[in-house]
Amino acid sequence: MDKVGVVGCGLMGAGIAEVAARSGGHVVVVESSEEAAKAGLARLEASLGRAEAKGKVDSAADVLARIAVETDLEALADREVVVEAIVEDEDAKVALFRRLDEVVRAPDAILASNTSSIPIMKLGVVTSRPQQVMGVHFFNPVPVLQLVELVPSLLTGPETTERARTWVEGSLGKQAIDCQDRAGFVVNALLIPFVLSAIRMMESGFATADDIDRGLVLGAAHPQGPLALADLIGLDTVQAVAVSLYEEFKEPLYAAPPLLARMVDAGLLGRKTGRGFYTY
Ligand code: NAI
Repeated sequence: MDKVGVVGCGLMGAGIAEVAARSGGHVVVVESSEEAAKAGLARLEASLGRAEAKGKVDSAADVLARIAVETDLEALADREVVVEAIVEDEDAKVALFRRLDEVVRAPDAILASNTSSIPIMKLGVVTSRPQQVMGVHFFNPVPVLQLVELVPSLLTGPETTERARTWVEGSLGKQAIDCQDRAGFVVNALLIPFVLSAIRMMESGFATADDIDRGLVLGAAHPQGPLALADLIGLDTVQAVAVSLYEEFKEPLYAAPPLLARMVDAGLLGRKTGRGFYTY
Protein backbone atom coordinates (compact mmCIF):
# COMPACT_ATOMS: atom_id res chain seq x y z
CA MET A 1 0.00 0.00 0.00
CA ASP A 2 1.80 3.03 -1.33
CA LYS A 3 -1.02 5.60 -1.19
CA VAL A 4 -1.35 6.44 2.47
CA GLY A 5 -3.73 8.92 4.09
CA VAL A 6 -3.50 10.30 7.61
CA VAL A 7 -6.08 12.50 9.34
CA GLY A 8 -4.65 14.80 12.02
CA CYS A 9 -1.08 16.07 11.95
CA GLY A 10 -0.50 16.36 15.70
CA LEU A 11 1.93 14.34 17.76
CA MET A 12 0.83 10.98 16.34
CA GLY A 13 -0.45 11.87 12.88
CA ALA A 14 2.80 13.62 12.00
CA GLY A 15 4.76 10.62 13.27
CA ILE A 16 2.68 8.16 11.23
CA ALA A 17 3.00 10.33 8.11
CA GLU A 18 6.76 10.57 8.63
CA VAL A 19 7.24 6.82 9.04
CA ALA A 20 5.08 6.04 6.00
CA ALA A 21 6.97 8.55 3.82
CA ARG A 22 10.37 7.40 5.13
CA SER A 23 9.50 3.89 3.99
CA GLY A 24 8.79 5.17 0.47
CA GLY A 25 5.03 5.71 0.67
CA HIS A 26 3.20 8.73 -0.74
CA VAL A 27 1.25 10.38 2.05
CA VAL A 28 -1.63 12.84 2.16
CA VAL A 29 -2.28 14.27 5.63
CA VAL A 30 -5.49 16.19 6.31
CA GLU A 31 -5.75 18.73 9.11
CA SER A 32 -8.77 20.66 10.36
CA SER A 33 -7.60 24.20 9.42
CA GLU A 34 -4.87 26.06 7.53
CA GLU A 35 -3.27 27.05 10.82
CA ALA A 36 -3.20 23.44 12.08
CA ALA A 37 -1.85 22.29 8.70
CA LYS A 38 0.99 24.81 8.98
CA ALA A 39 1.77 23.63 12.51
CA GLY A 40 1.65 20.01 11.32
CA LEU A 41 4.05 20.69 8.47
CA ALA A 42 6.42 22.51 10.85
CA ARG A 43 6.29 19.46 13.14
CA LEU A 44 7.19 17.18 10.22
CA GLU A 45 10.02 19.44 9.07
CA ALA A 46 11.49 19.64 12.56
CA SER A 47 11.34 15.88 13.13
CA LEU A 48 12.77 15.04 9.71
CA GLY A 49 15.48 17.67 10.17
CA ARG A 50 16.51 15.96 13.41
CA ALA A 51 16.45 12.53 11.71
CA GLU A 52 18.67 13.86 8.91
CA ALA A 53 21.11 15.44 11.39
CA LYS A 54 21.40 12.07 13.17
CA GLY A 55 22.01 10.28 9.85
CA LYS A 56 18.77 8.30 10.07
CA VAL A 57 17.37 9.85 6.90
CA ASP A 58 19.47 10.61 3.81
CA SER A 59 17.44 13.60 2.72
CA ALA A 60 14.67 15.19 4.78
CA ALA A 61 13.67 17.14 1.64
CA ASP A 62 13.14 13.92 -0.35
CA VAL A 63 10.89 12.49 2.38
CA LEU A 64 8.96 15.77 2.72
CA ALA A 65 8.40 15.77 -1.03
CA ARG A 66 6.33 12.58 -0.55
CA ILE A 67 4.03 14.24 2.03
CA ALA A 68 1.21 16.66 1.20
CA VAL A 69 -0.58 18.40 4.07
CA GLU A 70 -4.13 19.36 3.07
CA THR A 71 -7.28 20.68 4.72
CA ASP A 72 -9.93 18.97 2.55
CA LEU A 73 -10.86 15.34 3.24
CA GLU A 74 -11.57 14.86 -0.48
CA ALA A 75 -7.78 14.72 -0.90
CA LEU A 76 -8.06 11.18 0.54
CA ALA A 77 -10.30 9.88 -2.26
CA ASP A 78 -7.72 7.54 -3.85
CA ARG A 79 -5.97 6.34 -0.67
CA GLU A 80 -5.40 2.60 -0.07
CA VAL A 81 -5.08 3.00 3.68
CA VAL A 82 -6.18 5.94 5.85
CA VAL A 83 -5.10 6.22 9.48
CA GLU A 84 -7.20 8.54 11.63
CA ALA A 85 -5.17 10.31 14.35
CA ILE A 86 -7.41 13.17 15.51
CA VAL A 87 -8.28 14.03 19.13
CA GLU A 88 -9.36 11.16 21.38
CA ASP A 89 -13.05 12.12 21.29
CA GLU A 90 -15.66 9.56 20.33
CA ASP A 91 -18.13 12.01 18.75
CA ALA A 92 -15.38 13.61 16.65
CA LYS A 93 -14.08 10.22 15.48
CA VAL A 94 -17.56 8.89 14.70
CA ALA A 95 -18.30 12.00 12.61
CA LEU A 96 -14.98 11.62 10.82
CA PHE A 97 -15.51 7.92 9.97
CA ARG A 98 -18.91 8.79 8.48
CA ARG A 99 -17.14 11.32 6.24
CA LEU A 100 -14.26 8.98 5.40
CA ASP A 101 -16.79 6.40 4.26
CA GLU A 102 -18.13 8.99 1.81
CA VAL A 103 -14.85 10.41 0.51
CA VAL A 104 -12.48 7.40 0.34
CA ARG A 105 -13.46 5.75 -2.94
CA ALA A 106 -10.91 2.94 -3.35
CA PRO A 107 -13.21 -0.08 -2.85
CA ASP A 108 -10.82 -2.13 -0.69
CA ALA A 109 -9.25 0.79 1.22
CA ILE A 110 -8.52 0.16 4.89
CA LEU A 111 -10.01 2.77 7.23
CA ALA A 112 -7.86 2.59 10.35
CA SER A 113 -7.98 4.42 13.66
CA ASN A 114 -5.01 5.19 15.88
CA THR A 115 -7.36 5.56 18.87
CA SER A 116 -5.90 4.54 22.21
CA SER A 117 -9.16 3.47 23.79
CA ILE A 118 -12.33 4.07 21.78
CA PRO A 119 -13.98 0.80 20.70
CA ILE A 120 -13.27 0.16 17.01
CA MET A 121 -16.79 -1.20 16.63
CA LYS A 122 -18.23 2.29 17.27
CA LEU A 123 -16.28 3.56 14.25
CA GLY A 124 -16.93 0.54 12.02
CA VAL A 125 -20.70 0.55 12.36
CA VAL A 126 -21.15 4.13 11.13
CA THR A 127 -19.56 3.18 7.79
CA SER A 128 -20.95 1.07 4.97
CA ARG A 129 -17.80 -1.13 5.17
CA PRO A 130 -17.14 -2.20 8.78
CA GLN A 131 -15.21 -5.18 7.39
CA GLN A 132 -12.50 -2.68 6.32
CA VAL A 133 -12.37 -0.68 9.57
CA MET A 134 -9.86 -1.60 12.28
CA GLY A 135 -7.51 -0.19 14.90
CA VAL A 136 -3.89 0.30 13.90
CA HIS A 137 -2.40 1.73 17.06
CA PHE A 138 1.08 3.25 16.89
CA PHE A 139 3.21 4.33 19.86
CA ASN A 140 4.75 7.68 20.68
CA PRO A 141 7.28 8.70 19.33
CA VAL A 142 6.20 6.88 16.17
CA PRO A 143 9.56 7.08 14.35
CA VAL A 144 11.27 5.48 17.37
CA LEU A 145 8.94 2.90 18.94
CA GLN A 146 8.61 -0.40 17.12
CA LEU A 147 5.21 -1.57 18.32
CA VAL A 148 1.88 -1.38 16.50
CA GLU A 149 -1.25 -2.98 17.98
CA LEU A 150 -3.59 -4.46 15.35
CA VAL A 151 -7.18 -4.32 16.55
CA PRO A 152 -9.92 -5.87 14.42
CA SER A 153 -13.51 -5.38 15.59
CA LEU A 154 -15.99 -8.26 15.53
CA LEU A 155 -16.93 -7.13 12.02
CA THR A 156 -13.43 -6.62 10.57
CA GLY A 157 -12.61 -9.04 7.76
CA PRO A 158 -9.56 -11.27 8.38
CA GLU A 159 -8.08 -10.15 5.04
CA THR A 160 -8.17 -6.52 6.27
CA THR A 161 -6.12 -7.45 9.34
CA GLU A 162 -3.63 -9.39 7.21
CA ARG A 163 -3.23 -6.52 4.72
CA ALA A 164 -2.68 -4.13 7.61
CA ARG A 165 -0.08 -6.50 9.09
CA THR A 166 1.76 -6.67 5.76
CA TRP A 167 1.77 -2.86 5.55
CA VAL A 168 2.91 -2.32 9.14
CA GLU A 169 5.56 -5.04 9.24
CA GLY A 170 6.54 -5.33 5.58
CA SER A 171 6.46 -1.67 4.48
CA LEU A 172 6.88 0.33 7.69
CA GLY A 173 9.29 -2.10 9.36
CA LYS A 174 7.33 -2.12 12.64
CA GLN A 175 6.35 -5.12 14.78
CA ALA A 176 2.69 -5.94 15.33
CA ILE A 177 0.79 -7.61 18.15
CA ASP A 178 -2.84 -8.69 17.91
CA CYS A 179 -5.39 -7.35 20.39
CA GLN A 180 -9.10 -7.73 20.98
CA ASP A 181 -11.34 -4.68 20.57
CA ARG A 182 -11.35 -3.77 24.29
CA ALA A 183 -10.64 -0.30 25.69
CA GLY A 184 -6.89 0.21 26.08
CA PHE A 185 -6.01 -2.87 24.00
CA VAL A 186 -2.95 -4.51 25.59
CA VAL A 187 -0.41 -1.81 26.35
CA ASN A 188 -2.60 1.05 27.61
CA ALA A 189 -4.82 -1.27 29.65
CA LEU A 190 -1.67 -2.06 31.65
CA LEU A 191 0.17 1.25 31.38
CA ILE A 192 -2.56 3.83 32.11
CA PRO A 193 -3.57 2.45 35.56
CA PHE A 194 0.14 2.48 36.43
CA VAL A 195 0.40 6.18 35.41
CA LEU A 196 -2.83 6.98 37.32
CA SER A 197 -1.42 5.28 40.44
CA ALA A 198 1.68 7.45 40.21
CA ILE A 199 -0.50 10.59 39.94
CA ARG A 200 -2.53 9.46 43.00
CA MET A 201 0.70 8.81 44.89
CA MET A 202 1.95 12.31 44.13
CA GLU A 203 -1.46 13.88 44.80
CA SER A 204 -1.66 12.31 48.25
CA GLY A 205 1.76 13.71 49.19
CA PHE A 206 3.23 10.22 49.45
CA ALA A 207 6.26 11.20 47.33
CA THR A 208 7.32 13.97 44.93
CA ALA A 209 7.03 13.64 41.14
CA ASP A 210 10.80 13.53 40.88
CA ASP A 211 11.18 10.81 43.51
CA ILE A 212 8.41 8.69 41.97
CA ASP A 213 10.02 8.92 38.54
CA ARG A 214 13.57 8.38 39.81
CA GLY A 215 12.30 5.40 41.77
CA LEU A 216 10.99 3.66 38.67
CA VAL A 217 13.97 4.60 36.51
CA LEU A 218 16.61 3.56 39.03
CA GLY A 219 14.75 0.76 40.75
CA ALA A 220 12.82 -0.87 37.93
CA ALA A 221 14.98 0.09 34.94
CA HIS A 222 12.14 1.97 33.24
CA PRO A 223 13.49 4.34 30.55
CA GLN A 224 11.46 7.15 32.13
CA GLY A 225 9.20 7.48 35.14
CA PRO A 226 5.38 7.38 34.92
CA LEU A 227 4.88 11.14 35.40
CA ALA A 228 7.45 12.05 32.74
CA LEU A 229 5.70 9.50 30.53
CA ALA A 230 2.31 11.16 31.21
CA ASP A 231 3.84 14.50 30.13
CA LEU A 232 5.10 12.85 26.93
CA ILE A 233 1.75 11.22 26.10
CA GLY A 234 -0.17 14.45 26.88
CA LEU A 235 -2.33 14.71 30.01
CA ASP A 236 -5.51 15.24 27.95
CA THR A 237 -4.85 11.95 26.18
CA VAL A 238 -4.08 10.18 29.48
CA GLN A 239 -7.37 11.47 30.87
CA ALA A 240 -9.34 10.49 27.76
CA VAL A 241 -7.92 6.96 27.85
CA ALA A 242 -8.67 6.66 31.59
CA VAL A 243 -12.28 7.74 30.99
CA SER A 244 -12.70 5.11 28.24
CA LEU A 245 -11.12 2.39 30.38
CA TYR A 246 -13.31 3.31 33.34
CA GLU A 247 -16.43 3.36 31.18
CA GLU A 248 -15.60 -0.08 29.80
CA PHE A 249 -14.45 -1.92 32.94
CA LYS A 250 -15.88 0.15 35.87
CA GLU A 251 -12.75 -0.55 37.92
CA PRO A 252 -11.62 2.20 40.38
CA LEU A 253 -8.01 1.75 39.26
CA TYR A 254 -8.99 3.23 35.87
CA ALA A 255 -10.71 6.33 37.34
CA ALA A 256 -8.92 9.59 36.54
CA PRO A 257 -7.67 11.25 39.76
CA PRO A 258 -8.89 14.84 40.45
CA LEU A 259 -5.39 16.31 40.01
CA LEU A 260 -5.27 15.00 36.43
CA ALA A 261 -8.65 16.59 35.63
CA ARG A 262 -7.57 19.93 37.18
CA MET A 263 -4.32 19.97 35.22
CA VAL A 264 -6.16 19.26 31.96
CA ASP A 265 -8.68 22.06 32.72
CA ALA A 266 -5.72 24.37 33.39
CA GLY A 267 -4.12 23.53 30.04
CA LEU A 268 -1.12 21.93 31.75
CA LEU A 269 -0.98 19.10 29.22
CA GLY A 270 2.70 18.15 29.46
CA ARG A 271 5.40 18.61 26.84
CA LYS A 272 3.06 19.84 24.13
CA THR A 273 2.06 22.91 26.19
CA GLY A 274 5.41 23.36 27.94
CA ARG A 275 4.17 22.36 31.39
CA GLY A 276 2.69 19.30 33.04
CA PHE A 277 4.25 17.47 35.98
CA TYR A 278 7.49 19.10 34.79
CA THR A 279 8.28 22.36 32.98
CA TYR A 280 9.80 22.16 29.48
P1 NAI B 1 -2.79 15.84 19.14
O1 NAI B 1 -3.70 16.72 19.91
O2 NAI B 1 -1.32 16.07 19.19
O3 NAI B 1 -3.20 15.88 17.57
C1 NAI B 1 -4.52 15.79 17.11
C2 NAI B 1 -4.56 16.57 15.80
O4 NAI B 1 -5.79 16.30 15.15
C3 NAI B 1 -4.48 18.08 15.99
O5 NAI B 1 -3.42 18.57 15.20
C4 NAI B 1 -5.85 18.59 15.50
O6 NAI B 1 -5.77 19.84 14.83
C5 NAI B 1 -6.24 17.49 14.54
N1 NAI B 1 -7.69 17.36 14.33
C6 NAI B 1 -8.67 17.40 15.27
N2 NAI B 1 -9.86 17.18 14.69
C7 NAI B 1 -9.63 17.00 13.37
C8 NAI B 1 -10.46 16.73 12.25
N3 NAI B 1 -11.78 16.59 12.38
N4 NAI B 1 -9.89 16.60 11.03
C9 NAI B 1 -8.54 16.72 10.89
N5 NAI B 1 -7.70 16.97 11.92
C10 NAI B 1 -8.25 17.10 13.14
O7 NAI B 1 -3.16 14.34 19.56
P2 NAI B 1 -2.26 13.02 19.46
O8 NAI B 1 -1.51 12.84 20.72
O9 NAI B 1 -1.54 13.03 18.16
O10 NAI B 1 -3.38 11.88 19.45
C11 NAI B 1 -4.10 11.57 18.29
C12 NAI B 1 -4.73 10.19 18.44
O11 NAI B 1 -3.70 9.22 18.66
C13 NAI B 1 -5.69 10.06 19.63
O12 NAI B 1 -6.73 9.19 19.27
C14 NAI B 1 -4.82 9.43 20.70
O13 NAI B 1 -5.55 8.69 21.65
C15 NAI B 1 -3.94 8.51 19.86
N6 NAI B 1 -2.66 8.15 20.44
C16 NAI B 1 -1.92 9.06 21.15
C17 NAI B 1 -0.69 8.69 21.70
C18 NAI B 1 0.13 9.67 22.48
O14 NAI B 1 1.12 9.27 23.10
N7 NAI B 1 -0.20 10.96 22.46
C19 NAI B 1 -0.16 7.33 21.54
C20 NAI B 1 -0.97 6.48 20.70
C21 NAI B 1 -2.19 6.87 20.21
